[in-house]
Amino acid sequence: MERSATMTWGVAALLVIAAANVAANFYQDFEITWSPSKVKIAPGGEQLQLLLDSSSGSGFKSKRDYLFGSIDMDIQLVPGNSAGTVTAYYLSSLGANHDELDFEFLGNETGQPYIVQTNIFVSGVGGREQRHYLWFDPTVGFHKYSFRWSTQDIFFLVDGVPIRHFKKSTAYPYPERQPMGLYSSLWNGDDWATRGGLVKIDWRYAPFVASYRNFRVVPASAAPPVDLSKLAWVNRNYMVYNYCTDRPRYPTTPPDCM
Ligand SMILES: *[C@@H]1O[C@H](CO)[C@@H](O)[C@H](O)[C@H]1NC(C)=O
Repeated sequence: MERSATMTWGVAALLVIAAANVAANFYQDFEITWSPSKVKIAPGGEQLQLLLDSSSGSGFKSKRDYLFGSIDMDIQLVPGNSAGTVTAYYLSSLGANHDELDFEFLGNETGQPYIVQTNIFVSGVGGREQRHYLWFDPTVGFHKYSFRWSTQDIFFLVDGVPIRHFKKSTAYPYPERQPMGLYSSLWNGDDWATRGGLVKIDWRYAPFVASYRNFRVVPASAAPPVDLSKLAWVNRNYMVYNYCTDRPRYPTTPPDCM
């Protein structure tokens, strides 16, 4: 009797989690942080778009904060001529000693490759940039961008393929004490984003639009295993910058690179 009651509750709890995923929507889970007139949420809340024009960009954040978890979002990056635009998609605890995990998508001229820049801040200290090209055009459809943040390691994944791994160690600090909110914004970064700032935004193509859907959070332990061999493939073929090998900047290899 008691046992079956427990099982019933177990099943009920699973159903609640499943329902929460299905029901996840942008009205419920997010709030607009910048330029409400430039944030479009589809009726029903299943899709959101951020717009950037010459008057401003726009942004949103999650209502909840997360301490560890596997966080997925499908994003379609700004199509066409997106040179000079930056789509930032990140977890942050904010404040001076913030922990932060960044995806920054640097736009480009039509047909030229986007760059995905990732960075990791622990207690306010970042400077861990890596840059990758992608193995597909991220502007023609939606692709899944994920943070996999457990007590032991952090993965950044694109369509389930790891592009970055940061392991917990006693040799350097690890983000584990501060819950982080999920943020995204689309803004003018044309002083640095495209070919180092050489290519400016062409406002004739405004508004620039980034689209979001299928936000999903599960415990890191519930996410599928990560295929580390794919990380080697990504770094061999698509990495364009790594702070770990930037000798002028870091004459001694940073401890988190070992
Ligand atoms: C944009 O395209 C140019 C030319 O292919 C390339 O050198 C650059 O890395 C690309 N990405 C960015 C963000 O500048």
